[in-house]
Amino acid sequence: MTLRFRARARGPLVVSVPAGPDGAPLPVEVLRPDGSAIDVAGRAQLLFCRCGRTRSAPLCDGAHNGCDFEKPE
Ligand code: FES
Repeated sequence: MTLRFRARARGPLVVSVPAGPDGAPLPVEVLRPDGSAIDVAGRAQLLFCRCGRTRSAPLCDGAHNGCDFEKPE
């Protein structure tokens, strides 16, 4: 079982959530800075913003598509 992180060159950090014995993605908790939880139940893939323009932080909402975001060196 491997938890995989992949940074897209001009987009989010993609986290692939491995499946458990029942075939469903393993449980994951994503917390906002204030400690409140974001409902990500059942998601096999999570996209985390790297551009800073999302309105759904820390998750990517696609806002990187409208900006000149380049990956940090
Ligand atoms: S990387 Fe997608 S909104 Fe920031």
